[in-house]
Amino acid sequence: MEQQHLTHKDTVNYGSFYTPERLVGIVYELITKKVPDFAKYTILDTSCGYGGFLRGENTIGADIDKNAVKTAMANGGAKTYFIQNSLLHISRTQYNLGKDSKIIIVGNPPYNDTTSMIRNNIKRADFERDADVFSRDLGISFLLSYDKLQADYVCILHPLSYLIKKANFESLGAFRKNYKLTDSVIISSAEFSATSKSTCFPIIIAFYEKNIFGMDYNYILNYKFETNDGKKFSMNQFESIGKYITKYPNQKNVSREEAVAFFYTMRDINALKRTATFIDVENYNTIRVTKETLAFYCYVDIFKKYISHIPYYFGNSDCFINIEPFYDLQGTFLFESARKHQKLKPYISDTKNYNDSRIIINNYFRDMLGEHYVQGRQTRRGIEGNGAG
Ligand SMILES: C[S@@+](CC[C@H](N)C(=O)[O-])C[C@H]1O[C@@H](n2cnc3c(N)ncnc32)[C@H](O)[C@@H]1O
Repeated sequence: MEQQHLTHKDTVNYGSFYTPERLVGIVYELITKKVPDFAKYTILDTSCGYGGFLRGENTIGADIDKNAVKTAMANGGAKTYFIQNSLLHISRTQYNLGKDSKIIIVGNPPYNDTTSMIRNNIKRADFERDADVFSRDLGISFLLSYDKLQADYVCILHPLSYLIKKANFESLGAFRKNYKLTDSVIISSAEFSATSKSTCFPIIIAFYEKNIFGMDYNYILNYKFETNDGKKFSMNQFESIGKYITKYPNQKNVSREEAVAFFYTMRDINALKRTATFIDVENYNTIRVTKETLAFYCYVDIFKKYISHIPYYFGNSDCFINIEPFYDLQGTFLFESARKHQKLKPYISDTKNYNDSRIIINNYFRDMLGEHYVQGRQTRRGIEGNGAG
């Protein structure tokens, strides 16, 4: 059931984007596949909203939002409900569960970056958390709370960025040390009707089980993800541009004299959609581009034009590159980028013929993306969104 009782502001602040039933269905498919005797377990959703994840009798739901819990109770399903901040005084006794109870945690915890919440009308107490689950992101706090509760299994939705961005992964601390991802389905944030359709990000429906070795970042880089429509990918299948050039301001390492251009700080592919590439005036957010690294930054500038051909599931990845063909095409990328950025013109090698540059670049992206290439919509000006017009 879609969430109906909150204002837009509270929906954002509490992360109350409720989960469509078909996605809850995927959670239960994963659980029944991985835990054949799952009827013996207590199903617990510590951020249960209207209780959409609480199927069966032996279920417990909790939420900070009392009106949501009221609706959940009226809908039936869960045996026990708690109105509480589930990130404070976290323990099994909070749910009347003993240390021998077998628990599967399900749900879709809120995924707010607490530094960017809409601050007005927000009760401080609602966002207090036990010190050992503290994180900038509420969702990461929830994952840490599942470890504190010593869940036997965890099957939840969360942004894929928690796993694939190294800093996020490290902040999963005790959770990643004690749990291992053993099955999953990737979906697009577009599956949630209330969220933005223009920039979709990947969400993982993740099945975790307790494991004494937990998981390390390499495990995630090598993990074979699969989307709900059968696309398979792993994070290490492409090389990140960060291996070759800096993505961050480098004033300490590169002098003003060495700089031939300035480039905006790079984050992930979704951020690149919104931010500038080359900029005229240096500021604290810019990178000093040298003659040696210029072709790489031109590559990123062109890459930005191709983002509409990159599927949503790479939205939180770094800009990537196929290095061998790139080395052959450096001049072509520079030439294409200089069409828009006139200041780069002096660096174009004039001994080469660039007549077919657009076709060559098109082919480069098609080859690199292979089965992941998203077809653009044909318009009178060529393929929409790829700059090939
Ligand atoms: C993404 S919604 C999920 C609701 C439901 N599980 C679903 O998917 O339909 C997140 C829920 O977390 C709740 N929530 C946010 N912070 C909380 C906290 N500290 N303790 C308990 N619940 C919280 C919100 O009220 C909201 O109902």
